[in-house]
Amino acid sequence: MMSLGESIRIKTRRDIEAMRVAGVHVAEILLELRDLARPGIATIELDEHARRAIEKRGIQSSFLGYGPHGLPPYPAVLCVSVNEEIVHGIPGRRELKEGDVLSLDFGISWEGYHGDSAFTMPVGSISADVAKLIETTRQSLDLAIEKVVPGHRLSDIGHAVQEKVEHDGFSVVRQFVGHGIGRMMHEPPQIPNYGPPGRGPRLKPGMVFAIEPMVTAGGPDVRMLDDEWTAVTADGSLAAHFEHTILVTEEQPLVLTRVPGSH
Ligand code: MF3
Ligand code: CO
Repeated sequence: MMSLGESIRIKTRRDIEAMRVAGVHVAEILLELRDLARPGIATIELDEHARRAIEKRGIQSSFLGYGPHGLPPYPAVLCVSVNEEIVHGIPGRRELKEGDVLSLDFGISWEGYHGDSAFTMPVGSISADVAKLIETTRQSLDLAIEKVVPGHRLSDIGHAVQEKVEHDGFSVVRQFVGHGIGRMMHEPPQIPNYGPPGRGPRLKPGMVFAIEPMVTAGGPDVRMLDDEWTAVTADGSLAAHFEHTILVTEEQPLVLTRVPGSH
């Protein structure tokens, strides 16, 4: 297991150039998927689109075949988590319907460097309460990104997420965390979405983090489905998930997985 103390790799200029390319691929493909998502489309069709995009661009999926600590290899290139599903939903024949809360999580590598990003969107129209869940989660990521500058410490990131989410009356999922990213999709450190500020290593230019708040409308507890991948809320409440891959620079954080129009 990774821990807060393990060393965080500083990326070289060459690493960063490759990670910028990887991030743009992720961002562009997620925008294509956002445009395709509508009532009546099966979640596997979104995965199939993502597979074709990967093929066309000559890049590699970070997710397909991924299998940490004894889990069955992940069978798709995309995670599609609907409603009470929080993360790692496996695409299948299920069709999206009006009012669904859809989370898409996607990662690829280019020349061995990974990019990882996720967002949640409504399918058709949703209630104001559900829109608020999605908006709070998006804003909690943006507030966390503001902390990704030299001088701040690692735990300032999770603290920013927790403060926003709980202020707005929602819960932060504890069982999954953000992570360092580079030549591996998951590198040290783990980045919880909660906790006190001012702890852990100081952030330095060249560090790259995938920050990914997972938020529920009910309690924070998680249940796993029999497929061993899909994480759902224990109380059946709705969930949202946003993620970006972010470079620490001397100045502003650089969101590698953002292009115009992105979350
Ligand atoms: N963003 C997710 C994560 O960092 C994506 C992993 S999906 C998997 O855990 F299939 F690769 F596991
Ligand atoms: Co991730």
